[in-house]
Amino acid sequence: MRKLWGGHFDEPTDVLIERLNNSLVFDSRLWREDIRGSIAHATMLGSTGIIEVGESQTLVAGLAKLEADLSEGTVTLPEDAEDVHTAVEVLLRDRLGAVAGKLHTARSRNDQIATDIRLYLRGVCEVVDRELALMQEALLVHAETEFETVLPGFTHLQHAQPVVLSHHLLAYFWMLDRDRERLNDTRRRLNRLPLGAGALAGTGFPIDREQVCIALGFDAVIPNSLDAVSDRDFAIDFISFAAITMVHLSRLAEEIILWNTPEFGWITLHDSVTTGSSIMPQKKNPDVAELARGKTGRVFGDLMSLLTLMKGLPLAYNKDMQEDKEPLFDSVDTLLLVIPAMRKTVATAKFRADRMLAATRGDFSTATDLADYLVQQGLPFRDAHTVVGKVVQHCTERRIGLEDLDESTLATFSPLLERDTKAALAVLTVQSCVAARTSQGGTAPNSVRAQYQLAKARLESSAPQ
Ligand code: ARG
Repeated sequence: MRKLWGGHFDEPTDVLIERLNNSLVFDSRLWREDIRGSIAHATMLGSTGIIEVGESQTLVAGLAKLEADLSEGTVTLPEDAEDVHTAVEVLLRDRLGAVAGKLHTARSRNDQIATDIRLYLRGVCEVVDRELALMQEALLVHAETEFETVLPGFTHLQHAQPVVLSHHLLAYFWMLDRDRERLNDTRRRLNRLPLGAGALAGTGFPIDREQVCIALGFDAVIPNSLDAVSDRDFAIDFISFAAITMVHLSRLAEEIILWNTPEFGWITLHDSVTTGSSIMPQKKNPDVAELARGKTGRVFGDLMSLLTLMKGLPLAYNKDMQEDKEPLFDSVDTLLLVIPAMRKTVATAKFRADRMLAATRGDFSTATDLADYLVQQGLPFRDAHTVVGKVVQHCTERRIGLEDLDESTLATFSPLLERDTKAALAVLTVQSCVAARTSQGGTAPNSVRAQYQLAKARLESSAPQ
């Protein structure tokens, strides 16, 4: 195995230990960031006079060429390198000879890896943000046409009060909006430069960290070298964001799964996002939603891994921290699979307005409205609640819904209902029920239209560049 050390070792490393120690199998994905950091470092080594300007130029040109060749695939990382830093340096030495050995002046793999991961994650934040914005857009496209589609709203998974479908879909829009805020926050905090911290204590070479900071597009230099090499908060921040985002996607997935059952029948999923059964010819399974729900568990696991990894570490760098990458990459990969898959599922879904409306029949979800009506007639809410309770009991015993009551029966429950029974009956339709909820953020179609405009403006103003 090729290493960047070994001068004071007489015996080779045990083969098993080499396997344990090796990180190239997973950190190879950081090669672009590693080269980028090295170019900024090599440039600074030249401009500060730590190495000759000519040497610095040779290093920078060599690194840039290596970047291009790796991108094109004309060269690949040597598989027998200990880690990505070794792999890049070995390739550079093959091409440039001895001068390549000057690149690591005033630098350690400890500040190098911290820089690489931050650069990588910064790019990931942009891609993930774009995916979330697209998912929000898919929700808005449906929301725009479902202001009048009434369905039962639930509490305790019991029919509670009717709502309109746009309202329901917009709830997920706002969850994702908060996720994007969290992502933004994560990105802001991670965009600080560790390079220049050395192994842990800084360096005696006259480095210029500000120059490197600007070259790499970081917002600030991390002020404490011990903190710079040993902090992984930014990775924890990211996976926390990922875990909460997965909670939201998983809740949406759960609703899609429920709505897709024959008992609900509120949604029809497109063939391209469902799968069949090898034995039951009639099956069309909502696998995307199930996998989104299932994969949420692994992201929680990633978060727990990283928290547990860091909790007992003394300052500064410890090799334990090499274990930060797999959970982090796993969360990134999971998000970038699940968000677009869920977006496609939502974008191609058809909602069954007829079935939703039918589900409100006989579900007593307008009972609160009858109580509110009695309140408007002067009855205290508690008493109104009791009167309507009796009406519900009456209907339940006769196996009818509130909407099936006739005027003369309804009138018997209270003198206040007798006064204008027609008006009382009118509040019992789900349409009048949703139309009445005109409060800001409420489910009246016009309130939801206003909310939709707010969401649309929010998405436009937060559009990823
Ligand atoms: N592969 C290491 C990691 O991921 C890079 C830093 C190694 N530093 C060291 N002193 N061995 O953390």
